[in-house]
Amino acid sequence: MCGIVGYIGREEAAPILLDGLKRLEYRGYDSAGMAVYDPEEGLTVAKAKGRLSVLSELTEGGKTVRGTMGVGHTRWATHGVPSDVNSHPQVSQSGRIAVVHNGIIENYMALKEFLVANGVDFVSETDTEVVAQLIEYFYEGDLLQAVGRVLHRIEGAYALGILCADEPDKVVAVRKDSPLILGYGQDCAYLASDVTAVIRYTREVSYMEDGEIAVLTRGGVRVYNALMQPVVKEHHTVDWDIDAAEKGGYEHFMFKEIMEQPDALRKTISPRIRDGEIVLEGLSLSPEQIRDIRNIHIIACGSSYHVGMVGKYNLEKLLRIPVEVTVASEFRYMDPIVDGRTLAIVISQSGETLDTMAALREARSLGAHILSIVNVVGSSIARESEDVLYTWAGPEIAVATTKAYSTQLVVLDMLGLYFARVLGTVTREEHDRVIGELLTLPDKVARVLTQTEQIQYYASQYFNHDSVFFIGRNLDYAMGLEGSLKLKEISYIHSEAYASGELKHGTISLIEDGTLVVALGTYGPLFEKAMSNILEVKSRGADVLGLTTEDHREQMAQVVDGVITVPETHPMLLPSLSVVPLQLFAYYVALQRGCDIDKPRNLAKSVTVE
Ligand code: G6P
Repeated sequence: MCGIVGYIGREEAAPILLDGLKRLEYRGYDSAGMAVYDPEEGLTVAKAKGRLSVLSELTEGGKTVRGTMGVGHTRWATHGVPSDVNSHPQVSQSGRIAVVHNGIIENYMALKEFLVANGVDFVSETDTEVVAQLIEYFYEGDLLQAVGRVLHRIEGAYALGILCADEPDKVVAVRKDSPLILGYGQDCAYLASDVTAVIRYTREVSYMEDGEIAVLTRGGVRVYNALMQPVVKEHHTVDWDIDAAEKGGYEHFMFKEIMEQPDALRKTISPRIRDGEIVLEGLSLSPEQIRDIRNIHIIACGSSYHVGMVGKYNLEKLLRIPVEVTVASEFRYMDPIVDGRTLAIVISQSGETLDTMAALREARSLGAHILSIVNVVGSSIARESEDVLYTWAGPEIAVATTKAYSTQLVVLDMLGLYFARVLGTVTREEHDRVIGELLTLPDKVARVLTQTEQIQYYASQYFNHDSVFFIGRNLDYAMGLEGSLKLKEISYIHSEAYASGELKHGTISLIEDGTLVVALGTYGPLFEKAMSNILEVKSRGADVLGLTTEDHREQMAQVVDGVITVPETHPMLLPSLSVVPLQLFAYYVALQRGCDIDKPRNLAKSVTVE
């Protein structure tokens, strides 16, 4: 979604803003812009619909926009179509106040009517322009005070970066329900919606909290709470390298991130297994509290939700505790059955997904203990959770998640295994077997990754299909959901995942000559049933691409048109292997179709609006 970068210092701001925006491109956007202040030239705004390259050309790489302080923005349209005029920064009527904004101002219509009635002319359709105009309306020579008054009137979610031509020594930033970080440098300060934008310049950052206002100057950063009392911010050092957020010779971030999975899994698993036992630093729940859990709710969106679907099968089997998995946007409005004996497991790569955050707060207010599985250290969801288990996947840039998904899966598996030991619902023998398999998982994923050529071949056979079905049972059904989402989000092919047993209740009527069915049959106990379902679709003309384990290869190969295999492992870990060919298949199909793989249309990496 939208991205914000801000800078104040001694260097020319525009190139720094452009560079920061470039690193935020992965979040998804449809226009870009910046406002820069210079004592001689005043406040200059440049903005344009389209890719960042359009803005870069417009400003000759930033050269035509002079000044050593400014704010930049990539916009993902919500209020008003993508257009030059709706792009940010939005500027007040006199041109003195410039604002960039992530989020949505929910009461903007009422505020707009009020301002229009007071003689203010609007030029855009955006909710953001209301903020710029309102700041000007309240401005009496003190930007901070004017911003404070505006904050009492606007409702919704927002991260704001604000410049005022009359106060050319500061950038003001505000955060509520939309992430913002502050970066510290020598005689300079930065502002960004995520650290990727400023990591090239500084590793020293603070995370702004809801309701905080920051004033960035060349001499440092002052932060105030909603009552305008000064706040002392903790400084954090970002421990990953700029290289981690670069393509490093790969054509796409998605492919690089797929290939990084063995390493990401190793980093996530190895430190948590000591002397044959799972060790979960970050978990505060005592054995008594674990024994007291009556039900588990897994809450997430998108692929993280699909991790929850796998988790339901594995956790219920391991723990014999009821597990419900709910998409966050539904959870928050469904009056869930939650009390003090509920464990809410919140899963999020970014830690900033707005619906997930709102669902977390709902679960907490109903008394649940909140345990989150998060990739981005210091993100909002991590900070609002009682317990956090980090996936150490490193920065994930491609919109379609791969390595974060894989690491979320194993963290949930390890959590389940740890709980099962406490509850006594797993035998020592079974426990040790899973531990052994967890330790070999990175190598087995590496083995799956050697099949890229074969998967690319299958993609070349099937890339021009209009519609694809993924079928499977149990864990294979949960995997089908993720395989289907991967394919549709980056290749734009219509695809659906079905529990195989449901086929005959409707979907089978859509199977005709040449329909592509990806049939998952890795789960040993149900392999024969998977085979029956394959025969059902084959006899109605489907082309079937099968996915199974090495031991079942021969049997499946007899009935399908193409087969991909994964090594044998403990059944609960099979999804960690079978997701990999599905990611690769989606990737190669999208590549054949010439899609913008890392930045699929209309999608965003971090969804910070409802
Ligand atoms: C977006 C991304 C998905 C992701 C989902 C949830 O839709 O494109 O890849 O699964 O958000 O994001 P989260 O950061 O909460 O895991």
